[in-house]
Amino acid sequence: MNYPIDEKYTWKIPSKPLNLPDIPLEGGEGSYYHFHVKKINTEKFIKGNPFFEWLAENYKFSCGLIKMEPNKLYDWHIDAASKTKINRGVCINALVTPSPSLVLFTDNLTNLMAHGGEEFQTDIIPFTYDLNEIYLFNTARAHSVYNFEKERLLFTLEFELEYPLLTYERVKNKIKTEFLNEHE
Ligand SMILES: [Fe+2]
Repeated sequence: MNYPIDEKYTWKIPSKPLNLPDIPLEGGEGSYYHFHVKKINTEKFIKGNPFFEWLAENYKFSCGLIKMEPNKLYDWHIDAASKTKINRGVCINALVTPSPSLVLFTDNLTNLMAHGGEEFQTDIIPFTYDLNEIYLFNTARAHSVYNFEKERLLFTLEFELEYPLLTYERVKNKIKTEFLNEHE
């Protein structure tokens, strides 16, 4: 199922879709923030892709493929929060396997977490990735991921600059005003 989503949560970047077999892996594997991750060779990856070449002229970043096992939930969190090891306000993601999964955002995480009180319900904003399309993802908003019966591989690009030096809105505006203006 496809859900239209407000651009304040995530935005499909008008660019060439990815293709898993073409993504150059470095061979190294590790774990990244509770995920199993395969490193991508950034230099090879960006070559010939106008959007990522433009992005590399403007930002430092690294990329990887993160794996989620079947029937797992990645619980509610905000990546730009002082309690977490990483402090990301924005990233770029693409779902590169046709694995049924669902992303939920909420504007009211505090309500949901107040289990001592009455509030076990909160408003959600559901989102599903279009396969292989790249999305700018607002990790400063509370989100969770539900993966269903298949292994799920997500391409993810992490900027070197952290929140609040780099924000979702700032990157989105720059892509729109600079990259899209030049490449339309
Ligand atoms: Fe996250």
